[in-house]
Amino acid sequence: MNTDLLRAQTPACHDLIHFNNAGAALSPQPVNDALFEHLLLEQRIGGYEAGEATLDAQENFYHAFGRLLRCNPREIAYMENATRAWTLMLQAMPLAQGDRIITGQSEYASNYMTLLHLAKTRHIRIDVIPNDNNGQICLQTLRQKLDEDVRLIALTHVPSQSGVIHPAAEVGKLARKHRIFYLLDACQSAGQIDLDVDKIGCDMLTGSGRKYLRGPRGTGFMYVRQSMQDYLELPSVDLHSASWTRKDHFTIRDDARRFENWEHYVAGKIALGVAVDYACDLGMNVIEDRVRILAALLREKLRQLPGVNVYEEGDALSGIVTFNCDSHDASALQKFLRGHRINTSVVRHQINQLDFAQRGLPDINRASVHYYNTEQEIDTFCRCLSVRN
Ligand SMILES: Cc1ncc(COP(=O)(O)O)c(C=O)c1O
Repeated sequence: MNTDLLRAQTPACHDLIHFNNAGAALSPQPVNDALFEHLLLEQRIGGYEAGEATLDAQENFYHAFGRLLRCNPREIAYMENATRAWTLMLQAMPLAQGDRIITGQSEYASNYMTLLHLAKTRHIRIDVIPNDNNGQICLQTLRQKLDEDVRLIALTHVPSQSGVIHPAAEVGKLARKHRIFYLLDACQSAGQIDLDVDKIGCDMLTGSGRKYLRGPRGTGFMYVRQSMQDYLELPSVDLHSASWTRKDHFTIRDDARRFENWEHYVAGKIALGVAVDYACDLGMNVIEDRVRILAALLREKLRQLPGVNVYEEGDALSGIVTFNCDSHDASALQKFLRGHRINTSVVRHQINQLDFAQRGLPDINRASVHYYNTEQEIDTFCRCLSVRN
């Protein structure tokens, strides 16, 4: 990996240390170029006319994701964000009163709140599988919970509040064995982990563009296995998801685009396709290795600092590093780092009710690295923290 070139294509790298890739990563120049070019074209010739002139670039979005996830482009849909995609899948699942949905202790806040909402409105039951000592979903407990009432397993692959990687493929094997539908939230894993939907064994997978994929804000995607598409019930239809064939009849599209809206962020969709190609051209296995190595280095260096607590456990860890300093509140530390042109984020106790209560954690700090970060940046970051301490 030519880090100098990659950083040259990421102009903000020269001005700051960006360790907030789990929030929104910095987009590389080709992604920004694609975005701005389309916006300028819209300005020059009109929105609909620009849309017609860039059909191939829009179509590329589906092929790029087919390549990233190793699936058929017909199984891909564009979404405005990951939450919208995930919620749509839940709304589309035919669920009856008393059906159970299994999820994990580190499920993303909005996902879990959607489940709570469904429990109230559609009387489904939720089972939360605790994490084991490694911080991963406990497969033994999961196995014990799988019976005929379970309709869906909904798992977050890489949580936003901890550096753990859950064993998505192991969960997929169990889901297949028990013929249970499986929805994977790959919001933090897409773009940092090499994903293969068949190896994982998921039926649906959702994510957003702005995080490790380095796409623009306000973009997302989902994968829906072909065999699953007719089983799901569309919560709504429009001119894009269906054709109005007779006065009192319409026909639903025969691909995953049935879940999309006609109107959408065309520039963002084109640019996200470019971001996915950029990642695939670099090689997802190469990216995965580099992120793992940098995150391991960061954890090691943080552990050497007196008064700093690192919260990651286990062997399967992502680019997300969570920590705090004994002497400083998480928000104050984030502000201090920002003053030194270092971007990090704070993970709030309040939006991680299941996980943080279980682990007895207050608000904590999060530094999330990507392949374009460097060992020198990690040194600078740790030096800055040790001064603060
Ligand atoms: C694991 C996970 N899932 C879902 C989301 C929601 O993504 P979006 O903001 O694109 O809806 C996030 C956002 O941080 C996340 O970390």
